[in-house]
Amino acid sequence: MRRGSIVALLGLALIAGGVATAVALVPTWLPEDASQEAGRIAFTFWFVIAICIFIFAIVAAVMVYAVLRFRVQEDDFEDGPPIHGHTGLEITWTIIPFILVTSIAIVSAIVLSRNDAQAKDTLRVDVTAQQFTFTFSYPDAGNVTSPVLMLPKGRSVELYMRSLDVIHSVFVPQFSQKEDIVPGLVTQLHITPTRVGTFPLECTELCGLGHSLMRSQAVVMEPAAFDSWLKKQGKTAAPTSSTTTSTTSTTTTTSPSAAGLSVFNANGCSSCHTLSAANATGKVGPDLDNLVAYAKKANQPLEAFVHDSIVDPNAYIQPGYQKNVMPGTFGQSLTKSQLDAVVSFLVQSAQKSGNK
Ligand code: CUA
Repeated sequence: MRRGSIVALLGLALIAGGVATAVALVPTWLPEDASQEAGRIAFTFWFVIAICIFIFAIVAAVMVYAVLRFRVQEDDFEDGPPIHGHTGLEITWTIIPFILVTSIAIVSAIVLSRNDAQAKDTLRVDVTAQQFTFTFSYPDAGNVTSPVLMLPKGRSVELYMRSLDVIHSVFVPQFSQKEDIVPGLVTQLHITPTRVGTFPLECTELCGLGHSLMRSQAVVMEPAAFDSWLKKQGKTAAPTSSTTTSTTSTTTTTSPSAAGLSVFNANGCSSCHTLSAANATGKVGPDLDNLVAYAKKANQPLEAFVHDSIVDPNAYIQPGYQKNVMPGTFGQSLTKSQLDAVVSFLVQSAQKSGNK
């Protein structure tokens, strides 16, 4: 091989590798890590990407070089020289991929086993999935339940997940952990959160009409804040109907309107409805800031109207909207206290926006 060809091949490989590296690095492909597991998954991802870029650079360089250098003349109809093979080359292109694929397998196996390894003080969270909502409960803390996955930062957490109806799947992109929830099985998922914050938690298995609405949140708190949240939840298991107005945080207060707001958010209501008290801007269903006017039109008291519209959405259809779009399952999937909380939250915010 001439020295010129090697330089040309090397140049082409550097260009191809550079372009591929830019495509890999410049856009933000992965969400920011928020768990130890996500860090290891990201390492595996970049390890594989690096190998891919290396192989891509070689293949692209040889291909472009061959196209340019060995192009046939227009009037050349000769067959190419008969080549039967090259033992050295074949051994090389068997051994190199073998080493690469084996190293990916080893790295993946180590990452998977570390990601599943629970610590001694692992926190247990039971997850119940049903069309179209998640419920999280904390059996070690007197079965406190929450529509949002509350987690302490830095603690090993194991989710024990069951489904009441069809196959669902739980996924928090920032945790890089995802697992199906299958009726009849208890599947497990291990998470060690590393960053305080609120992250989307979504169902990633097509589970029915409301699949796209089956969204909740994972809220990671400092351990002390988490402990006091758990204690507070344990005390106020049944929220009273006294009303304080707080729409700021679903995590640190347990007032009825905050509970209602978290039910509202956890059940995907905001995907379809507009409601200023929840910063919701959905356009699929009626605008819930106008509930007072709708109730008048339906000729019902506001509270009964809101309650019935959640439990039996087809009972009254606001002109301009269609039947059977809103899931009719909330009557079963919401507990009585969740239903009461979201009804009183909606009534309150409707009255407020009605007076404006
Ligand atoms: Cu549950 Cu999709």
